[in-house]
Amino acid sequence: MTTPKFPDNFLWGGATAANQLEGAYNEGGRGLSVQDVMPNGLMSAPTPEPTEDNLKLEGIDFYHRYPEDIALMAEMGFKVFRISIAWSRIFPNGDDAQPNEEGLQFYDDLFDELHKHGMEPLVTLSHYEPPLNLARKYRGWIDRDVIAFFEKYARTVFERYQNKVKYWLTFNEVNSIISAPANGAIFEDEIEVSLADKWQAAHHQLVASALATKIAKEINPDMQVGCMVISMPTYSMTPDPKDQLAVRDFMNENYAFTDIHARGVYPGYLKRHLREAGIEIKFGEQDARILKENTVDFISFSYYVSLVQAHNPKNYQTAAGNIFRGIPNPYLEASEWGWQIDPIGLRLVLNDFWDRYQLPLFIVENGLGAKDELIADGAGSFTVADDYRIDYLKAHLQQVGEAIEDGVELLGYTSWGPIDLVSMSTAQMSKRYGFIYVDRDDNGQGSLNRYKKHSFHWYKEVIETNGASLYNN
Ligand code: BG6
Repeated sequence: MTTPKFPDNFLWGGATAANQLEGAYNEGGRGLSVQDVMPNGLMSAPTPEPTEDNLKLEGIDFYHRYPEDIALMAEMGFKVFRISIAWSRIFPNGDDAQPNEEGLQFYDDLFDELHKHGMEPLVTLSHYEPPLNLARKYRGWIDRDVIAFFEKYARTVFERYQNKVKYWLTFNEVNSIISAPANGAIFEDEIEVSLADKWQAAHHQLVASALATKIAKEINPDMQVGCMVISMPTYSMTPDPKDQLAVRDFMNENYAFTDIHARGVYPGYLKRHLREAGIEIKFGEQDARILKENTVDFISFSYYVSLVQAHNPKNYQTAAGNIFRGIPNPYLEASEWGWQIDPIGLRLVLNDFWDRYQLPLFIVENGLGAKDELIADGAGSFTVADDYRIDYLKAHLQQVGEAIEDGVELLGYTSWGPIDLVSMSTAQMSKRYGFIYVDRDDNGQGSLNRYKKHSFHWYKEVIETNGASLYNN
């Protein structure tokens, strides 16, 4: 067995999203985003107005503290830092005629700070935080007008940051919109939404993603644009061919999004699926051409859990997980939130995507959400002995190494939430992913002070040795 070797220019780093860490929800001319009225997580009902219990309104106050936080990332040796631009900082209502200069300046300064420390920004245009106005005045992404608003937003930030940002992602977990329509500014609790509407919204995002790729290339051909999906390797519950077929159908619903981004056409299996569901997607006159001519440069994805499927899922229990649900896998352990832990699944996903597309890949989220206990560090400060997090990350990164040995071309790895931030699914602070602890609890109490966990020093060494330390005992 050879010891895997990570490529010399491998982009090690961490990933975040504006709505989960920036805070300052009503500063700098920012408009409201859908997250400001979702105090209980992405799948829960929205409130009419922002409410005090919504931890995202203050986040971890990254908006004011980012220089200090970026210095900590730099101390770990980060080569890349993934952020998202809060669309409502740039176009407060989504449909404004002019962008908000204060918002643009904020990200200018943030990118300068990253470059000062030799870090490459990796930027998501839309990470579950479209402007609220698009949900309340329009029907979110069901409405075709939103494509033009997004195009304008994308053009504005591409023009502004063309010399500061090379790597862009269009929609975070673009394949989640059918299960989590709030991703597309669609509030099912407020408007009538059919399955056909959700697919129409997905189509609009796919066209918008292709248009963004086109605009980026026109502005600066060196910019690299990728799609971003939730990846979930899926196992068959039994060797029954019917179960295997169920796995294939499930996987296809997700592959559809990368297939369209990478190949530029709706795959036959998706057309059939939609036809049989009685759904006819309305294509604009140019849509097919736009999709075909503007495919992505790379494929990026999040990876947290694998799933098990069967043709008769009602006969089984349902496992907890990240947006999509499967059957509990008896071979795997689970996190405190019930997300099943499967490092080998990551190697499988990497190989599957590589075999299917032969495009560079980027793991832009992976990590363990866990409860941490702050303890004295013996030197007058505090720390967290988070061996469980180190074990999780080490096991996953070792499988990444195996995939690289398998021949997969991988640009980099950004662990999710390198600094604790508010959880997406549960909107809690106590579900922590970070190498850096942030003193804030689920009631919003705490000093917001930052403390280095044991994993901070561990990850620093992984980066310093370009992955070689993963193979020391
Ligand atoms: C991903 C999202 O699906 O999962 C992130 O892109 C999210 O926004 C991450 O934070 C982890 O999920 P959670 O619910 O534990 O925060």
